[in-house]
Amino acid sequence: MTRQDSRKLAAVAEKLREAINHHNYRYYVLDDPETSDAEYDQLMRRLEALEREYPELATPDSPTQRVGAAPSDKFRVVVHRKMMMSLGNAMNADEMREFDKRIKRLLKSDADIEYVAEVKLDGLGIELVYEDGLLTVGSTRGDGINGEDVTPNIRTIRSVPLKLVKPAHGKIPHLLEVRGEAVLTLKAFEKLNRAREEAGEPVFANPRNAAAGSLRQLNPKVTASRPLDVFLYSPGAIDGITFKSQWEFLQGIKSLGLRVNPLSRVCQGVEAVLEYWNEITEKRHSLDYDADGVVAKVNSFGLQEQLGEVSRSPRWAIAYKFKAQQAETVVERIEVQVGRIGSLTPVAKLRPVQLAGVTISNASLHNLDEIRRKDIREHDTVLIERAGDVIPYVLRVTKEGRPRSKPFEMPAHCPECGATIVHEEGEVGYFCVNANCPARMRESIRHFASKTALDIEGLGDKLVAQLVEAGLVKELDDLFSLTKSQLTGLERMADKSAQNILDAIQGARKTSLDRVINGLGIRHVGEHTARQLALRFHTLDALAEASEDDLLSVRDIGAEVAHSIREYFDEPRNLKAVKRLIKVLEIEPVTEAPGRGALRDKTFVLTGTLESMTREDAERKIMAAGGRVTSSVSRKTDFVVAGAEPGSKLKKASDLGVRVLDEKGLNALLAG
Ligand code: IVH
Repeated sequence: MTRQDSRKLAAVAEKLREAINHHNYRYYVLDDPETSDAEYDQLMRRLEALEREYPELATPDSPTQRVGAAPSDKFRVVVHRKMMMSLGNAMNADEMREFDKRIKRLLKSDADIEYVAEVKLDGLGIELVYEDGLLTVGSTRGDGINGEDVTPNIRTIRSVPLKLVKPAHGKIPHLLEVRGEAVLTLKAFEKLNRAREEAGEPVFANPRNAAAGSLRQLNPKVTASRPLDVFLYSPGAIDGITFKSQWEFLQGIKSLGLRVNPLSRVCQGVEAVLEYWNEITEKRHSLDYDADGVVAKVNSFGLQEQLGEVSRSPRWAIAYKFKAQQAETVVERIEVQVGRIGSLTPVAKLRPVQLAGVTISNASLHNLDEIRRKDIREHDTVLIERAGDVIPYVLRVTKEGRPRSKPFEMPAHCPECGATIVHEEGEVGYFCVNANCPARMRESIRHFASKTALDIEGLGDKLVAQLVEAGLVKELDDLFSLTKSQLTGLERMADKSAQNILDAIQGARKTSLDRVINGLGIRHVGEHTARQLALRFHTLDALAEASEDDLLSVRDIGAEVAHSIREYFDEPRNLKAVKRLIKVLEIEPVTEAPGRGALRDKTFVLTGTLESMTREDAERKIMAAGGRVTSSVSRKTDFVVAGAEPGSKLKKASDLGVRVLDEKGLNALLAG
């Protein structure tokens, strides 16, 4: 090829790149595409073909180079040049007015403040760094000071330009850091979850988690398959261009090709911001992404500087969250459930209703006092709410048109076993004191098998109910003498699943003292107290013999807890059950004092083969440093340690956005 030919080809490639970038800009930033998808695809294919034939023509900012990087084993830390701050909250309109007054006071001004009101996006905070117009780093917000370098993943997001657009007036700045939010559209979220469900993989709880999991993927190919989107809204360090206000900044970065939210607006005075909030509240359900409120920012950068910040939040901005989502439905029945210590909990069985994307048919009513206070009765129409988008909660009764009904009463007899219910005057609780109550047994086993206790995988609610119903488990230790034929005799239990469960149960025999103590389900004794007790008493026998005074001398244990522990072991039936457990379990003492351990309260999952130590060594070291090792990855896992040939746990970790360490990383953590 002559030099002239190669120059021509380079010019063709450049033209194609420019055309593609231009169409991206029209599509993602201006939301005003000029071309059809087919035409766009054709341009892409031509460029790809050209670059395949003449690889020297491919530039790093070429739109064909979005998914290039190989998977990595962990993320590098990025120190943000300027801290990424968080926002203070206002709970209601009056608090917004308070915020506005405070600003006027600080600025010693009576005039209306000019704000920019923006949608508060519910995604993952990110930062993009453009040096001389090229995207060089993309990172997560992290703790605001240190983030994670997720550049290869950010590059896969179509609405992030790899190269800034030269604006009609003005030039490309030398340095431009912009902050914003990566979000997953609701459509993409639903599609992703459907695919995961079909593949038998765990689904994401909400688009925010899915976005976080997708961005914190070690393999950029996976990120590329999840159509993330970005909206940019804040400046970081900037050199070579100046903006006088937030509004000018938003317009400026838009003209440089960066995507900004089209709903942002300049508002004169706080009342205009409140109006904006009302409008967005109405609109929020028709948006294609999750939003959780509105952010108001003082427009002028000069005034922002005068106002400054307090404890990592600017004084010039505030978030006003949407009200929790509510719906009306009917209480069809009030049922009473029996817990493991025999406490009765009333639960409203609701006419199923859609609320924030899920069907709600139950809501705990907590206790009789709460029911009385709100006067909730069967057949009432009630207003329910999902606070923090998880637990449904009955807000109040709509009394108009209430049918004739009687106030709710706690039953005199246990709904499960018929024993007399005990209630002490002046106390809130009602209890079934029959230690043989099947409901109590069910709940005890469930708790015993749960993650923070013996962590027996596969022993779910249904199976526990079956085991108790069939009379196969009457005491906790009965679990360990279950046989395969007993299990396969249960409804819907195949040979393979029976074996898996038996293996899981046998695997749980070897455990640590704190887990056993927690698993006993002593009233007021949770994970933390169990650990303190294990550290102090070393064996279950010693704990069972401890006097109330001995117990009171343990860190964080007060009179009520000490009394409850003593009461538990004073009950002959409990003591017998504990003695039997001691015989079947292999209980390891807990040694390291908490607080001193560098990995205090951190949960680890190990996968793959480690080089410098066995898995048991690694477990011991982590535990000695105050950490925990569990067998399966969940959102509660802090670190996954991946050795050679890691299994599916590594994938799960990246899906859930859990941090992954290699052996070196683990050793560094252990070294403190
Ligand atoms: S401004 C100093 N604007 O909310 C300015 N934040 O609680 C700080 N967020 O971590 C951020 N939408 O991830 C700003 N339009 C918006 C936002 C927004 C969502 C998130 C952001 C930040 C958190 C602050």
